[in-house]
Amino acid sequence: MFCRIPFIVVFAACVSSAVSETLEFNLFAYGKLASSGLQLFYGDGQAYVGGAPSFVKESVNISLVMVEGGDKFVARANTTSPAWPTEPTMYVDLTEGAAISVGFTTDNKTLPDGATSVGFGLYGGWVFHKQDDADIEMKFLATPTNETGIYLVKWNAASTKTRDAIPISLRTQAPVVFGDK
Ligand SMILES: *[C@@H]1O[C@H](CO)[C@@H](O)[C@H](O)[C@H]1NC(C)=O
Ligand SMILES: *[C@@H]1O[C@H](CO)[C@@H](O)[C@H](O)[C@H]1NC(C)=O
Ligand SMILES: *[C@@H]1O[C@H](CO)[C@@H](O)[C@H](O)[C@H]1NC(C)=O
Ligand SMILES: *[C@@H]1O[C@H](CO)[C@@H](O)[C@H](O)[C@H]1NC(C)=O
Repeated sequence: MFCRIPFIVVFAACVSSAVSETLEFNLFAYGKLASSGLQLFYGDGQAYVGGAPSFVKESVNISLVMVEGGDKFVARANTTSPAWPTEPTMYVDLTEGAAISVGFTTDNKTLPDGATSVGFGLYGGWVFHKQDDADIEMKFLATPTNETGIYLVKWNAASTKTRDAIPISLRTQAPVVFGDK
């Protein structure tokens, strides 16, 4: 059976399939940003939207991959060149009261205390994180970098308003482009 149904529907539609389906998608930030629908990038192990800042050593245009039934987001280069063999897993830091950068790791041993790389999912194309028996949460923030239009993505475990931090949602939905194309 061959299924090509996007996002959440794939789970219900493909249960009879013996072959495991893989979802691959780009992520975009929506919120009160200078411009909405900014794509997520990898920059030196951290997540940025709007591009990766020029001060990072390694900047990668990524898509995320989720294997059916999985709860992890694995990053893959979304361009064919240059080659990027690393395929790190995204993590959020759940340390109570903190608002720490969303990162990527290839090895759980290097995960900061309080961080986790499991519990991710998509709900109608919106990224959520769910820790054990807790409710699903969508607590992403964007903080401006010193480069125009580029923001560092954080997870707001503090759930409080932080100065300079803009609440965002991460979605698989690409922004609609008006005008010539
Ligand atoms: C880029 O990501 C999209 C999913 O958003 C995928 O369909 C496409 O194949 C990817 N391209 C490359 C070169 O990885
Ligand atoms: C990132 O990759 C996507 C999909 O291949 C492409 O549409 C987009 O233009 C790329 N962005 C940059 C800044 O290279
Ligand atoms: C980290 O540990 C979890 C749970 O043990 C596992 O599912 C996940 O694949 C690990 N992640 C990495 C990057 O090794
Ligand atoms: C921008 O911020 C980065 C990281 O904090 C720093 O390394 C860089 O020097 C800054 N650039 C400017 C022009 O201030």
